[in-house]
Amino acid sequence: MKNILITGASGFIGSFLVEEALDRNYQTFAGVRSSSSRNYLSNPDLKLFEMDFSNQALLEEQLKKQADLFGRFDYIIHSAGLTKSRFPQEYFDVNQGNTERFINALVNTQMVPDKFIFISSLASYGPGKSGIPIHEGKEQSPITAYGKSKLAAEQFLQQVSGFPYVIVHPTTVYGPREKDLLVLIQSMNRHLELYIGSKNQDLSFIHVADVCKAVYLTIDQPVVNQQLILSDTLNYPAPEFNDIVKKILNKKTLPLVVPVPVARAAAHVSEWIGQLQGRTPIFNRERLSEFEAENWAVDATALKQLGFVPDFPLKEGLTHTIEWYKKNGWL
Ligand SMILES: NC(=O)c1ccc[n+]([C@@H]2O[C@H](COP(=O)([O-])OP(=O)(O)OC[C@H]3O[C@@H](n4cnc5c(N)ncnc54)[C@H](OP(=O)(O)O)[C@@H]3O)[C@@H](O)[C@H]2O)c1
Repeated sequence: MKNILITGASGFIGSFLVEEALDRNYQTFAGVRSSSSRNYLSNPDLKLFEMDFSNQALLEEQLKKQADLFGRFDYIIHSAGLTKSRFPQEYFDVNQGNTERFINALVNTQMVPDKFIFISSLASYGPGKSGIPIHEGKEQSPITAYGKSKLAAEQFLQQVSGFPYVIVHPTTVYGPREKDLLVLIQSMNRHLELYIGSKNQDLSFIHVADVCKAVYLTIDQPVVNQQLILSDTLNYPAPEFNDIVKKILNKKTLPLVVPVPVARAAAHVSEWIGQLQGRTPIFNRERLSEFEAENWAVDATALKQLGFVPDFPLKEGLTHTIEWYKKNGWL
């Protein structure tokens, strides 16, 4: 039985990666913090492994103890990451700093796995130009602190000698348990449809089950020291997501087009309210710059060459997701 560690196991994507690992009969370790939610981590076969990424010496001790008890991890999927913050520096502290300390700790404790899969993001490539899908060879030019922090982590990973990494770049991930796109879907359920600006972006999406499928494909296949963009292999004009949601919900909506300057002011206000409440708002200036970008379409050639076929193209994936939201009282 191979050992696998999934960090960020309490999160949206991590919790699904954990379930897939258990289904595949790996001896599965869920990397968590003491404060992490255990809501989706109750399978009795799952072993919880508390990790402190902020302190390399402590992390090394935790890894050594783990190795003494269970041996080295054959595979590691590093999904722990910060996707929303009020403070740009925090993205670097977590996405770059934690990843660097983790890799150093693995090297120092001689616990380098057979494969280390880093869940980065399409954001580390930055948006594409109109009509040119983003591909793995594109120059990486992120436009957000989040994307820059992911790129910094990737660059560190790539220069560690003899470290067998795979960097995956999921585009927007949706599915059961996801809470940000849920807000959009909830607003359409209440007949309100928000559009920011009037740009004709092309977008890409991937259902969380297909993220898992693609990630485990990179473990099964002889893929190493490579980057791979993850999508459902198709691109969609911006309104298509909303159009599909409205059809599934069978709702007519009032479209509300928010001009960019108004959206920018709203992002400031939303951040200011977040600061007062000590919360990180879903809508902020980083998110706005992504809305304003020309294009988030991707070229899925490399993923298809691995033999990847999505189980959930957007229509099927959203149907599945909305069913889950309704069944669980989220919608
Ligand atoms: N969702 C998307 O659309 C998307 C797209 C592309 C890439 N990604 C990447 O996929 C990964 C997972 O994203 P997600 O959507 O599942 O996010 P999520 O639901 O917010 O989960 C984030 C996970 O990272 C952990 N984490 C955050 N800060 C940490 C810290 N300082 N120390 C240790 N653990 C920490 C969280 O642990 P706690 O529960 O303890 O906070 C949680 O388990 C991230 O690396 C993200 O950048 C996501």
